[in-house]
Amino acid sequence: MNVKGRHFRTIWLKESDPKTLRIINQQVLPHRFEILDLSTVEDVRRAIKDMYLRGAGLIGAAAAYGMYLAACEAGEGTFDRDLLAAAEILKNTRPTAGNLAWAVDAMLAALTGKEGTKAQKEEAARREAAAIADADAEFCRNIGLYGCGIIEALREKKKGEAVNILTHCNAGWLAFVDYGTALSPIYAAFDKGIPVHVWVDETRPRNQGASLTAWELGCHGVPHDLIPDNAGGHLMQRGLVDLVITGADRVTRRGDAANKIGTYLKAAAAKENGLPFYVALPSSTFDFTMLDGVKEIPIEERDPEEVRHICGKTRSGAIETVLICPETTTARNWGFDVTPARYITGLITDRGVTEASEEGILKLYPEASL
Ligand code: MRU
Repeated sequence: MNVKGRHFRTIWLKESDPKTLRIINQQVLPHRFEILDLSTVEDVRRAIKDMYLRGAGLIGAAAAYGMYLAACEAGEGTFDRDLLAAAEILKNTRPTAGNLAWAVDAMLAALTGKEGTKAQKEEAARREAAAIADADAEFCRNIGLYGCGIIEALREKKKGEAVNILTHCNAGWLAFVDYGTALSPIYAAFDKGIPVHVWVDETRPRNQGASLTAWELGCHGVPHDLIPDNAGGHLMQRGLVDLVITGADRVTRRGDAANKIGTYLKAAAAKENGLPFYVALPSSTFDFTMLDGVKEIPIEERDPEEVRHICGKTRSGAIETVLICPETTTARNWGFDVTPARYITGLITDRGVTEASEEGILKLYPEASL
């Protein structure tokens, strides 16, 4: 997508040094646009763990490129063993996003147990990682095309007024390689001239809505307003929301969806108010091995300091982190929650829109039938 008229993806290899990975540093957005170079598996591990990059699809693509760097670092005689060790390191960074293990396993399947010189294996790893990144972008482009139909249908009822869409966290292009998931249909609708307006949940504790979604939408010119996380129910009661679209970090074979903490509350409020609640996801976010998301999806618990503090730009222009509770107050910080399928109107995937049920999902993904 575009930043000041220039097209960017969120991850790419440096042209002058194809063993260096480049990413957009999400830690300093929206205040600074900064590119970071990653040249070792350790750099990639830290970038994922400490959220210099984030979002299910981008984490998957970064892990795939991390495996490419692992192939470059691996010893000639210990290639497979070194790759398996790197896979463990990368998989242990963040537990909830399904795309991470999916991408690492795809890299392992393509690269281990193979004949060839070290140089040939490095080249195969580079090609495979690029294919995973390209597939992510293409998945997201298609999600935009399918999801746009939902917004277009609502437009008929709005008689020229903007369709109001509420979203939580950041499931835009910054969370993927390009386009995004929840925001992709919004960009597609906006580009088609359909009037849209987005309610952006701030998304405590790390404020991905305030810092990333608001920034992305602003870059694209999409009208939006930032709202406190608690405001969604009130807006729904007042008829100010027509549709909710969120992303997902992992979706089970029956359609239970893990997403950023707070999503479940929005889904419950949407159901109470009779509003459509859609979850947008690429094929790589499905975990067909799991059925009951509440019981089975691992939920990352992050550093409580993220809850006790808040980061922002001071009046003097410095980016600072401040404490927002008494020094002695303890906190807990679950990163995700699970929205059961019964709250979800439909899943917007790269293969089309389907109901959130095992039957609906298997119609689109017959290869996942047991
Ligand atoms: O913890 P994050 O920022 O990596 O959270 C993941 C997410 O980006 C959200 O849950 C998002 O809505 C899912 S779509 C990638």
